[in-house]
Amino acid sequence: MRGTLSLLKSPPNKTGNGQEESTLLLEECRVWTKRGLVSASILIRDGRIASISRHIPKDAHETLRATGLVAFPGMIDAHVHLRDLDLSYKEDFTSGTAAAAAGGFTTVLDMPNTVPPTDSTKRLNEKIEKAHTKILTNVGFHVAAVPDSTQISRMSTLGAYSLKLYLPKPISPLDIQNEKTVLTLLQSSKRSDLRVTVHAEDPCLIRRPDSEEIISFTELSRMRPEEAEVRAVNRVLSLAAKTGCNLHLSHLTLPSSIVAARKYRHATTEVTPHHVLLSEKEIKRKEWKAWMVPPLRSESVRKDLLAMMSKGLVTIVASDHAPHTVQEKSETVAESPPGIPGLETTLPLMLTLVVRRVLSMSLLTQLLSSNPARVFNLPRKGRLDKGFDADIVLVDLKHKSRIRPERFHSKAKYSPFENMHVQGQVRTTIVGGIVVFQDGEIVGKPGSGRIMKRGALG
Ligand code: NCD
Ligand code: ZN
Repeated sequence: MRGTLSLLKSPPNKTGNGQEESTLLLEECRVWTKRGLVSASILIRDGRIASISRHIPKDAHETLRATGLVAFPGMIDAHVHLRDLDLSYKEDFTSGTAAAAAGGFTTVLDMPNTVPPTDSTKRLNEKIEKAHTKILTNVGFHVAAVPDSTQISRMSTLGAYSLKLYLPKPISPLDIQNEKTVLTLLQSSKRSDLRVTVHAEDPCLIRRPDSEEIISFTELSRMRPEEAEVRAVNRVLSLAAKTGCNLHLSHLTLPSSIVAARKYRHATTEVTPHHVLLSEKEIKRKEWKAWMVPPLRSESVRKDLLAMMSKGLVTIVASDHAPHTVQEKSETVAESPPGIPGLETTLPLMLTLVVRRVLSMSLLTQLLSSNPARVFNLPRKGRLDKGFDADIVLVDLKHKSRIRPERFHSKAKYSPFENMHVQGQVRTTIVGGIVVFQDGEIVGKPGSGRIMKRGALG
């Protein structure tokens, strides 16, 4: 049967040093390699890819028949809010990484705007300690941009993936209006060789509603105009150019932002599925389900952004998985927290673009796997090749379905994509050689995922 796990009888082999080796064979799939799609079997030994070949080894301990499925390198989501700690009612490390596995993501990078925020080595260590027994996929951490350069250097040494500079409302106290403060921060990041990830919206151009103000979600979204992104992107790019630091611009919504970023050689860009697939008119219909920041833009801007992504002008796609409870989001418009879950919709939506020939398969794997691996320095990830980590997603490209948020593994069971038709289903997700998700079910154990530290081999 297609995609079923079966245990073979052969006992584990002993290696030269007497340790047991475990092997898993993904039999007869089509494998996405640097030569394109090839028919092959993948042999996994001790969490790494031992071989990809037409020849089927006979001595694997476990075999997964994957006939008819396509094996892609595990997807990497560089912008995820896993919450946990005091916000675990919105999402916790297990539910968030279950959502990741169900969505074909084998590695996610968590954002620091938690309670408490990840803004020191102490807090980063606490988060790592809390997460490591709970995660099902690999997880790395971004940390908050802080003024103290010693703290930045220490957090970098501890394996943080980037400094998150949240311009609308800094995560930790930081005078972002002060040019010198921002410049010093960018200089420290350069010295620590740590990328700065920016949420680019200028707070001076954002209007915030009073808690009693009666407004619609469309009006709420319009309080964050395009100009706020234009100004923030230009400002941060010109300051970064003075320092030569690496800059990653999160969830860009405007084609002009991509054009501007491409002029700075140390900048990388990110778009989300919602900004390339949905526009402002959806807010009227979906209300709080379509409320996120930056907000959805006009239909013509959306189309141009999708065209830029499809032409390969954007570096990565990330979900900006930002779960909140239905109650928080739907109670009052003025106080509704922005953000939507995205881990379980991103890959099916992107695969649908491939099926519809809007996007090439090669570009999909670059945007969701090899580019995030390169930008955020994740060695042995982002490609299916001998010696690489066995982070693999098996996809049924023929399977058609509708997006059903009530089936999400995330605690946030809603989506602006609800009922949308997609083609391409995640059947199996393998993390470090361990089958974590299989045919709609989480089969891995919390704690089987790894804590990723930048610069370490994991
Ligand atoms: C994010 C969140 O809820 O943490 N919300 C969102 O709408 N994107 C914050 C953010 O990334 O700006
Ligand atoms: Zn953001």
